[in-house]
Amino acid sequence: MRDFSDYSLLNHNTFGMNVKAKRYVEYDSEEELKTLIPTLSGEVLHIGGGSNLLFKGDFEGTVLHSAIGGIEEQTLSSPSLQGENGILTNERGDSLSSVGETEKGAVLVRVGAGVVWDDFVAWTVERGLGGVENLSLIPGEVGASAVQNIGAYGVEAKDVIVMVEAVDLKSGEKRIFANSECRYAYRQSIFKQELKGRYAITYVTYRLQKTPVLKLEYGNLRAVLEQNLPNGENRPVLGQVRQAIIDIRNAKLPDPKVQGNAGSFFMNPVVSREKFLALQKEYPQMPHYEVEGGVKIPAGWMIEQCGWKGRSLGRAGVHSKQALVLVNLGGATSDEIVRLCQTICQDVKQKFGIDIHPEVNLI
Ligand code: EPU
Repeated sequence: MRDFSDYSLLNHNTFGMNVKAKRYVEYDSEEELKTLIPTLSGEVLHIGGGSNLLFKGDFEGTVLHSAIGGIEEQTLSSPSLQGENGILTNERGDSLSSVGETEKGAVLVRVGAGVVWDDFVAWTVERGLGGVENLSLIPGEVGASAVQNIGAYGVEAKDVIVMVEAVDLKSGEKRIFANSECRYAYRQSIFKQELKGRYAITYVTYRLQKTPVLKLEYGNLRAVLEQNLPNGENRPVLGQVRQAIIDIRNAKLPDPKVQGNAGSFFMNPVVSREKFLALQKEYPQMPHYEVEGGVKIPAGWMIEQCGWKGRSLGRAGVHSKQALVLVNLGGATSDEIVRLCQTICQDVKQKFGIDIHPEVNLI
């Protein structure tokens, strides 16, 4: 365990804000976390890789960070899957049947919350296990994948998460959440809503496929893959899908080590069918996706239509290749980023009558 006072968070937020935490603690195991809980006072913020945060100033409480590692294939006799009566049950006593019935062809893998997400993805691809290859190169850590329901190129974390192990930051008790209890939706989970700030995630168990079923229908993924495939080969393998995703992301998204950013700054809004049809009359080229409850419109497209792509306000800018991403052009204050965010929201509202909201957590 590492415990610091007045600790700089510069290396713990990809926006590159040089702010301090009054206390910063990094723990290596569930046991360490439990012993740490009674010492916590004031506000507590649990972070992962800091790739989805914008600090508005110094943090006057305690920042926690998990360094729980480990990537382990599970079998039905693995201790993590054994409850008092054999197969694990949740606190209501429901059998976690989705865990118990290991289907043919599936492998369960339990991963420590502090593992770097892309290290886990690389591990799965090296072993030929399918399910998360489309989520290659997403910044951040495994714990956050379960909070944020990270998603890209037609796959979301919720599609592969079986269960989430967590510790109550008030009582120190452990709780296990089956996938259905996490209330997953687009970039949403119970850990961002009713239970926000209440639990620290310690392990996430994913279900992967021994015979991967590739998902190649999103955007230009198939086209990029076909270009990459050596002559004569027409069936991509996992490693090639991973590489294509890495190429697409690198071409569009700024590297936080070079230019501070937190990936997509806004979520894509979902509007009613009526609203969409009215807008489509005016903008026939508007990209859109049918989703449950309405039609999703890419915020990046609307921001570009408002003329913001590649523009800046002070030292805060809109990325020139993907308008959904706000960047720190060098030494930007969080106020400058927030001002840019608000100005963009107003412009989108004025032009399209749609409210867009930050995906990034403003702390
Ligand atoms: N578009 C524009 N201009 C732009 C950006 C996008 O016209 O500047 C259009 C594109 O041409 C396309 C549509 O908007 O028709 C969607 O664009 P893209 O495929 O780039 O995806 P996105 O909706 O902008 C989402 C995720 C990304 C994820 C991609 C790919 C959110 C908030 N963002 O972006 O996730 O990589 O899809 O699946 O849902 C992240 O969360 O940090 C992130 C990068």
